[in-house]
Amino acid sequence: MIEKVEKIENNKILSPEIVEKELKSNPFGNFLVYKKDNIIIGYLYYSLIYDRIEINQIEVLKEERRKKIGSNLLQYLIDNNKNNITLEVKIDNYPAINLYKKYGFKEVAIRKGYYEGIDGILMERKIGD
Ligand SMILES: CC(C)(COP(=O)(O)OP(=O)(O)OC[C@H]1O[C@@H](n2cnc3c(N)ncnc32)[C@H](O)[C@@H]1OP(=O)(O)O)[C@@H](O)C(=O)NCCC(=O)NCCS
Repeated sequence: MIEKVEKIENNKILSPEIVEKELKSNPFGNFLVYKKDNIIIGYLYYSLIYDRIEINQIEVLKEERRKKIGSNLLQYLIDNNKNNITLEVKIDNYPAINLYKKYGFKEVAIRKGYYEGIDGILMERKIGD
């Protein structure tokens, strides 16, 4: 089950303090959480900045990966927002890059040394593409 939250209970993947801090400092920030048996096992943190969305982070608990939870979170975001979506991903993060490509994201630029010496890829999913 996926829901948008502003406050969460303790869990293994996302701390309540981080959610509180991010939402306080980022007026565009939103958290989607994926719950199994009422426990958070995955989340997607995004910013809705006027007419565009930026994915800040998506993460699934290690032991729950490869079960389409990341896909479900991304699909939920896509289904509930009619905006272009951008994100940055480390060039060697194949699980994430594959996931994004599957959902229509295209590489638009390389950012040299974006992550402490490791290149980042800027990806975008355009509405209407
Ligand atoms: C990226 C992440 C969120 C994917 O979540 P997930 O629930 O395991 O992904 P899904 O099961 O929905 O997989 C969907 C697709 O993504 C790709 N994918 C996911 N994990 C993969 C892996 N280990 N290797 C290669 N491709 C992978 C595949 O294309 C997969 O489709 P398939 O299962 O039909 O082959 C998860 O690996 C994660 O939490 N990683 C650590 C955090 C992170 O790097 N986040 C991205 C920051 S930009």
